[in-house]
Amino acid sequence: MILSGRHSQSIAAELAERLDEPLAPVAFDRFPDGELMASIGDVTPADGERAIVVASTPSSDAHIELLQLQDAAHEAGYGEVITVVPYLGYARQDQAFEQGEPVSVRAVARAISTGADRVLTIDPHEEDVCDFFDPPATPISAAARLAEPLPEDLIDPLFLSPDAGAIDLAETVREAAGTGTVDYFEKTRHSGSDVEISPSDTSVDGRDIVVVDDIIATGSTMSEALTILQERGANRVFVTCIHPLLAGNAVTKLSRAGVDTVYGTDTLERPCSAVSAAPVVADALADQL
Ligand code: R5P
Repeated sequence: MILSGRHSQSIAAELAERLDEPLAPVAFDRFPDGELMASIGDVTPADGERAIVVASTPSSDAHIELLQLQDAAHEAGYGEVITVVPYLGYARQDQAFEQGEPVSVRAVARAISTGADRVLTIDPHEEDVCDFFDPPATPISAAARLAEPLPEDLIDPLFLSPDAGAIDLAETVREAAGTGTVDYFEKTRHSGSDVEISPSDTSVDGRDIVVVDDIIATGSTMSEALTILQERGANRVFVTCIHPLLAGNAVTKLSRAGVDTVYGTDTLERPCSAVSAAPVVADALADQL
């Protein structure tokens, strides 16, 4: 049985089809005092049946609903609860960067651990975050899927990571596309929305560029990279990421910076979610059985 979180309807439906498992009639409600209620409906598990909770956590409410779904699954008597977190919120807060700060993703992981027998998450910012979970937690990658929506007529393509952290993702997308070269820029972050990009020497003049990152949040990283690419005479610039969070004015920021098309996966459901990460989740679940 698949139990879908509020922000993971499409990926859960696709996963249900691939695994040939039913979707529970999950319902979401809010009490007058603001408290949430995610319920899984009138389900009767067979002996030892597993429940697969599929819930991205882009908001604090989503974290609570995930915990509620896990708890409801235990309450209903499922033999095993596998939690798939397509987009794990707080994953970038994986250290106490300053005195007095929490390791927020560790706190989140500990809470999820109380109700999960296994955890899978897609392209977390750093794979090490999986060590914060008590049950076995596996990072899986949907990066190869990002090549799928790209046009077939790319001109001398360069797959570019806007900072050193996403080089492997760029390399994976290039491999899946079967053509092009890989490079990366250097990034200095001054604040949550203020970043400085130092370009490499690679020529981009007249080339199609595919910029690859794990997440677009405020769009600052991508728009800085786009501005440099435009100044240096790039042809078309495609922006692709695993998690299209696209907070605030990120979409217009990218548009103003001259992007041709933005692509993401359905770890977060956005108009640009051109490709599903469900196949890699289905494969990972099959491998673990
Ligand atoms: C950070 O290292 C990540 O890989 C992304 O580059 C970053 O989180 C994107 O954030 P924003 O869109 O706010 O620049």
